[in-house]
Amino acid sequence: MDKIVNNKIKLEFLSKGENVALARITVAAFVSQLEITLSELEEIKVAVSEAVSNAILHGYQNKPDEIVTIKGILKGYTLVLEIIDQGVGILDIEKAMEPAYSTDPERTGLGFVFMQSFMDEVKVESQVNHGTKVVLVKKISTDLKNTAVS
Ligand SMILES: Nc1ncnc2c1ncn2[C@@H]1O[C@H](COP(=O)(O)OP(=O)(O)O)[C@@H](O)[C@H]1O
Ligand SMILES: [Mg+2]
Repeated sequence: MDKIVNNKIKLEFLSKGENVALARITVAAFVSQLEITLSELEEIKVAVSEAVSNAILHGYQNKPDEIVTIKGILKGYTLVLEIIDQGVGILDIEKAMEPAYSTDPERTGLGFVFMQSFMDEVKVESQVNHGTKVVLVKKISTDLKNTAVS
């Protein structure tokens, strides 16, 4: 019965706010080839939105003509997402990931907290003035009691 999934996508888009929704929906469609539960799908969508918003707002400081890249890999029930920008980078990654830490006083500083609570693994690689790569890993559960219908 179980379908073995082995698939890959690469998505590139301009660093515009309206593309956050595009990224979220595209990744949701990509993972929907698994019989994923609605709550897991929601968790992935929130994590992607947070990482892509960060790339646009922080990485590119809202410059709208830069490129954000998302790479997605599905192997069996494991989803790996990479959200990549070539923006300003992060000087102190540990500090940036602390709950409620933000370099923008208008923001909550909870983006990484959401990513960490909704995904199984969050890794950040960054170089100042070169950009940031956020790697999100999630094992999709095989409990299909609340299976999404599409
Ligand atoms: N892609 C990125 N490029 C540069 N800085 C980033 C990036 N992602 C996160 N950061 C830094 O990490 C901090 C914490 O991010 P986050 O937890 O999402 O909170 P918030 O976005 O509310 O500030 C940001 O304030 C920013 O300084
Ligand atoms: Mg954020």
